[in-house]
Amino acid sequence: MTLSSMSHPALQKLLRNRTSIPTIPETVRKINALIEDPDVGTAEIGAVVAEDAPLAAKVLRIANSAYYGLQGDCVSTEQASTVLGLRVLRSIVTQAAVFDRFEDISSVNGFSFEEMWQHSLRVAHTTQAIARRSRVVSQPTPDEFYVCGLVHDIGKVIMIDGLGADYARCLNRARRYAYPLHLVEREEFEFSHTDVGSIVAARWDLPEKVCHAIQYHHGPREKVEQDPVISLIAHANLWVHGMEQDSEDAARAVFDEQVREQLGLTEEHIDEILEHTLAIWTGAG
Ligand SMILES: [Fe+2]
Ligand SMILES: [Fe+2]
Repeated sequence: MTLSSMSHPALQKLLRNRTSIPTIPETVRKINALIEDPDVGTAEIGAVVAEDAPLAAKVLRIANSAYYGLQGDCVSTEQASTVLGLRVLRSIVTQAAVFDRFEDISSVNGFSFEEMWQHSLRVAHTTQAIARRSRVVSQPTPDEFYVCGLVHDIGKVIMIDGLGADYARCLNRARRYAYPLHLVEREEFEFSHTDVGSIVAARWDLPEKVCHAIQYHHGPREKVEQDPVISLIAHANLWVHGMEQDSEDAARAVFDEQVREQLGLTEEHIDEILEHTLAIWTGAG
């Protein structure tokens, strides 16, 4: 996005209205700082999460979900942090905080928050799985990629919340004509959920590379070809779309030789990622 589109009046208005951009709760900031501190122990961090009761409840719900395999065995956040490890805990806390902010937007005019959330989780797991295997991309970390996947489409939620019926029309138009949503958004509003998402990510102090990846996850093609970090999230998103259409072949085709080379992945890696994705899919029900 150019600076001029960043200051586009409609975008400015969206960011100023009642939704504005959610802030990451204080607990999440505190936890992020503690995790960086080598003198702080795992259980201690779990105790900080426990202080924020609604957040702790959500963390436990997510930790006990099929995604993390604890299957209801985890009764305290101290235990969750020990069993899952801090990196996973950080992802879950961020996830719980983001979910919390938008939970009341259930299903507005053809927009399903649940569906978007499930898609986001799938992209989060996929980007993390790719980042763990990539011989080229070492920064952001797989953990940061997880968060990137989790929030890559957050701009959509802010747009539905702030633009209401106008945005719903946009969603319906994209669906009816099977036209890419980000292009319809740009036509209607002169900005898209990628612009909004990257502004949110920057306000949340996510690494600059993560903000860029969100900004360009639908292209343009030159950006994707030039930057492996952008390419990783863009192709993970396409992979998940392929899988969501029940097409393993479409998903596999996303990682052709050129993309595999750019990301430092082998064909065996793609098999592993497929296996991992299918396990998550089944687990997520
Ligand atoms: Fe998107
Ligand atoms: Fe997406």
